[in-house]
Amino acid sequence: MPRKQPGLSRRGIAVPASPIRRLVPYANKAKAEGAEIYHLNIGQPDIETPKEMIDAYRSFHDKVLAYGPSDGLPVFREAIADYWREWDVKIAPDEVIVTTGGSEAILFALLATCDPGDEVLVPEPFYTNYLGFSTAASVKVVPVPASVENGFRLPAKGEFTKRITARTRGIMFSNPGNPTGVVYSAAEVGVLGDLAREHGLYLYADEVYREFVYDGARFESVFHLKDLDEQVIVLDSVSKRFSACGARVGCLVTRNRELLDSCLRFGQARLCPPTVDQLAAAAAYKAPKSYLTEVLEEYGKRRDVLHDCLSEIPGVTAFKPAGAFYTVAKLPVADAEKFAIWLLTDFRLEGKTVMVAPTAGFYATEGSGLDEVRIAYVLNSTHLKDAIRILAAGLAAYPG
Ligand SMILES: Cc1ncc(COP(=O)(O)O)c(C=O)c1O
Repeated sequence: MPRKQPGLSRRGIAVPASPIRRLVPYANKAKAEGAEIYHLNIGQPDIETPKEMIDAYRSFHDKVLAYGPSDGLPVFREAIADYWREWDVKIAPDEVIVTTGGSEAILFALLATCDPGDEVLVPEPFYTNYLGFSTAASVKVVPVPASVENGFRLPAKGEFTKRITARTRGIMFSNPGNPTGVVYSAAEVGVLGDLAREHGLYLYADEVYREFVYDGARFESVFHLKDLDEQVIVLDSVSKRFSACGARVGCLVTRNRELLDSCLRFGQARLCPPTVDQLAAAAAYKAPKSYLTEVLEEYGKRRDVLHDCLSEIPGVTAFKPAGAFYTVAKLPVADAEKFAIWLLTDFRLEGKTVMVAPTAGFYATEGSGLDEVRIAYVLNSTHLKDAIRILAAGLAAYPG
């Protein structure tokens, strides 16, 4: 008799592969064949991590690499509270739960506030991994489409209200936006606040790109919203701010005590976030202000280079992003994923090719974003120019 196999869970089957990483096997094969690949697919900056952070790793000489507290090391939680003071926001260290990357903060927030079958509204396109985490938490992402024509600004209030049901728990969004690069104005953040107040919703505010706004634009945090202490949850990370993606340190910040307590209990189940990385991350917050100013200047330059180069390619529509370090480009192809794969399998210019992230996976609406790719401007201007030259040549040569 054939043995019965236990099989996978429904969520084990449903969890999507990340469009940022799904094409990696094609890239690995191309590299093994000798191709050089420009990675425009992933938000992995080539910017140096602050020296203070690297030095902190080097000066760790404990004889035992021990567990830390489940809610994080006091030195890091205090660094976060000090940091918020600079934004005119009063946060106490015990309003911070340190997480294993901003990723775990997203997961904890969903697990602590939503039951299976609950719904979260998300302006679309959105950070693709919200889909992975919502699947893990059995939460339904309800997309609220932003329109490409107006640069992915916050959809009108009515677009949110008409999607609110008895199961809606909150609104999740990244500001500045990944993949769009949109930066919400104070008025737009105010609309999100109104929705939260009027409908009793959580605001899951993913602000990991808070510092990355260009052209003198002003970033508005949800912490500036009034009367929402119990409903505002800020999801944060050192990955992008300090070009420290491998540190795996982030945090969830809220004034909601009950929620903090629940997150702490989820945190106790996984014991603690990484110890040495928290020490290093705390040191990063003590880096001189010039670190972030210079980083911002560099990203601003790259954004201009990218936008100028993309604008010259026939048939490509690209929006000039005001923040983060991504842009969504509409390509003259029917299926951007097929094109992205073809670039890796079949196309080389002077032995080089590019890897981009097909944007369909950043949408929950079936059939949206099929002709778009997300481009991360995390390479220096010379490499970026070369990468877009190769992308343009690829588009011209593409048989599809
Ligand atoms: C919008 C957004 N939120 C959260 C994360 C998660 O970052 P990490 O887990 O590295 O802190 C990312 C990473 O790219 C992101 O772009």
